[in-house]
Amino acid sequence: MNTNTNKKADILIAENQIESLKLLSKVLEEQGYKVRQAIDGEMALIAVEAEIPDLILLGMNLDRVDDYQVCKQLKMQDKTTDVPIIFLRDFDELSDKIKAFEIGGTDYIIKPCQQEELLVRIETQLKVSLKLKEVKKENKNLVKKLKIIENSQPVHQQIPLESHLLYQAIAATNNSIVITDATASDYPIIYVNPGFEIMTGYSLQEVTGKNCRFLQGSDDQQPELEQIRDCLQKGESCHVTLRNYRKDGSLFWNEMSLSPIKDESGNILYYLGVQTDVTDKKKLMKPNKDIKHLYRK
Ligand SMILES: Cc1cc2nc3c(=O)[nH]c(=O)nc-3n(C[C@H](O)[C@H](O)[C@H](O)COP(=O)(O)O)c2cc1C
Repeated sequence: MNTNTNKKADILIAENQIESLKLLSKVLEEQGYKVRQAIDGEMALIAVEAEIPDLILLGMNLDRVDDYQVCKQLKMQDKTTDVPIIFLRDFDELSDKIKAFEIGGTDYIIKPCQQEELLVRIETQLKVSLKLKEVKKENKNLVKKLKIIENSQPVHQQIPLESHLLYQAIAATNNSIVITDATASDYPIIYVNPGFEIMTGYSLQEVTGKNCRFLQGSDDQQPELEQIRDCLQKGESCHVTLRNYRKDGSLFWNEMSLSPIKDESGNILYYLGVQTDVTDKKKLMKPNKDIKHLYRK
């Protein structure tokens, strides 16, 4: 499709009156336009399919596919919806004019018309169409830039407005909540709530991108870890209690439930971890037994 100079624009004329078709073609070719001709609606659609023109002059009473249908079909398709269509008429009838504009026509010319008027209307439509293309391109670029900015925001800022209630609930709970990215390697943390920060002493900024195993410190031979590896490998949920260490080095017992979060097709996108500090419960249940773990070795 031509977008540089309107003078070389590709114009399709669909007109069943041969004399008029010849005359229009001659006038436009003299102005430097590339002209293609169609004598009925079906030919016009085939010509558009072969190459999308920059503008269409659409005559009336076209055979096989009538002019309204041609216009409607082209306006329905993404690739041709912005091609300006100028209706050519032998009469000036209000209802026909309204219909032409309603189905997407961009202008309406009544024949016979002065050559200057025809040319200026075509020029105008080509300029508008060119501007529209530029605006759409600019829009696409802006959307791309916006997406990049959105993706660089922390996950809690990406949550859509309607989910804010849910987000506030997650943020307000006393439980620790961790979300890890299951599509990236090694399940990096993408979100922790304030409950996690209180329980461990680590902030969201400090842990983003890390695997949760850092909470085990050097205590990384706990048998329950095998259970976690197995559950992650199978994409299942699990419930385990581990010894973990806060930022200040003190031990706490971390009872956690890990669950996959899937999309509609069943692909696992995230893993959700809900953790509770059960140190007090453990102490009550087994007095003195785990005293040796109270501080990191
Ligand atoms: C969502 C999620 C939350 C997790 N939370 C913790 C945690 O709070 N403490 C911990 O020690 N491990 C946690 N893990 C487990 C570790 O990230 C890791 O899977 C485990 O240490 C076993 O893997 P590894 O042998 O590669 O270390 C969590 C895992 C997931 C997926």
